[in-house]
Amino acid sequence: TISDNDYRPDFHFTPQSNWMNDPNGMVYYAGEYHLFYQHNPDANVWGPMHWGHAISKDLVNWEELPIALYPDNLGNIFSGSIVVDSKNTSGFKTGSESPLVAIFTHQNPANNNQTQSLAYSNDKGRSWTKYENNPVLVNNVKADFRDPKVSWHKETQKWIMVLAAGDEIMFYASSDLKNWEYKNSFGKDVGAHGGVWECPDLFKIEDENGQETWALLVSINPGGPNGGSGTQYFLGDFDGETFTSLQETTLWLDYGTDNYAGVTWSNEPNNRNLFMGWMSNWSYAQNVPTYSYRSAMTFPRTLHWQKSNGESIIVSKLPTEIIYAIGGKIIENNNAASRFELLNDETLGGGKFYIETTLDFSDINEAKIEWGNKSSSIVINYNRINGELILNRQESGYYFNNLNSNIIKCPYVLPASNQLKIKMLVDKSSMEIFLNNGERVVTALVFPLAPFKNLEITANEEIQFIKQIKINKLKE
Ligand code: FRU
Repeated sequence: TISDNDYRPDFHFTPQSNWMNDPNGMVYYAGEYHLFYQHNPDANVWGPMHWGHAISKDLVNWEELPIALYPDNLGNIFSGSIVVDSKNTSGFKTGSESPLVAIFTHQNPANNNQTQSLAYSNDKGRSWTKYENNPVLVNNVKADFRDPKVSWHKETQKWIMVLAAGDEIMFYASSDLKNWEYKNSFGKDVGAHGGVWECPDLFKIEDENGQETWALLVSINPGGPNGGSGTQYFLGDFDGETFTSLQETTLWLDYGTDNYAGVTWSNEPNNRNLFMGWMSNWSYAQNVPTYSYRSAMTFPRTLHWQKSNGESIIVSKLPTEIIYAIGGKIIENNNAASRFELLNDETLGGGKFYIETTLDFSDINEAKIEWGNKSSSIVINYNRINGELILNRQESGYYFNNLNSNIIKCPYVLPASNQLKIKMLVDKSSMEIFLNNGERVVTALVFPLAPFKNLEITANEEIQFIKQIKINKLKE
């Protein structure tokens, strides 16, 4: 019989017990990556929201700390962000450490009214004090008014807050984190609007030549690319008050069903746009077959700007810290082959592995990667003519409330080389699939009902399309 241990990932953060959703307040300070998260400590479903707390030095091994923020007389603690106030603009500093200031949404459970509040820590995030004059930002018009993400805008020497307000993003500015001035709104007539906008993030992003532009991430639920929750983004300009985008199509950060409400770290020491999302989907999150805990985060990723193939997009890459998760090699083949199979393998069956393979579609139209056992499997199919990758969870043994018939579609036209490099991180109940340079990502939960010990890569023709394959274990 299957237990939670068979599904709990080793290299993705999960709460020790009970419910988790959005990542919150991600900030780096004094050698530690902090992760806070929407948490119900009393049940394995959503409920009165707290901020849970974990830290990591390497983005791979996480240590859970005591709950940071509890609900109070202003309400539940919804999503938000943390900044390092190194100039003490807030006046919250008491000792020698820089104050960490959390900006979060208070949600009144009686009437669902949403306001923004502050809490601060002068001891590296270990203890938190709520500001005595909370809330600092109220509104009487918008029903949805939440998920503040704050960052320092060098050019105007101001804090900028992006806030989700139903069908648009609102921009506010402040000198002290306590007084906020409304500047502008964005999004009513652009992008996807199949659901409510949530959890925005705004940051500068560079291409490989160091050229900069601005990115605005906006999570949306429902209305994601494969049903339920998803994260779209806009590339454009931001002058401290107004965000403008010339973009005409909707761009998705991840085509999988399971990457939601993600944002980037504040004060990242290497100046990376380091991102993490909640690895689930509101369509089924509260029903997935784990009970002692529910939900994991994605593996962290770095986001970059890329202009190629006629597209201006964000590409996602696994960070260099992935080396702390990847273990010994179990197979490597650099000779071209017309099929690959690894059968009855215990590493595959343990559900923890990392694959890199390069497939050449110059002389074939379609290829298939199948991970499974005799009775069920997960199939990844790429078709060059359709320009589409399909991840099929239909025969995987566990059904995701029939979301999109358990089929995930990811449009992707190959570059002129006709090569598709696939990197795939599998950690018990999740698959994170990166195409080529990270031009597409597909993150998906999977719950095999029995170990999947077989992996096969095949095409319909006898052509040596598999240029290279390498499979590694993950560390114990
Ligand atoms: C996104 C979200 C946020 C909200 C939080 C509540 O998943 O709905 O908009 O702050 O979750 O838990």
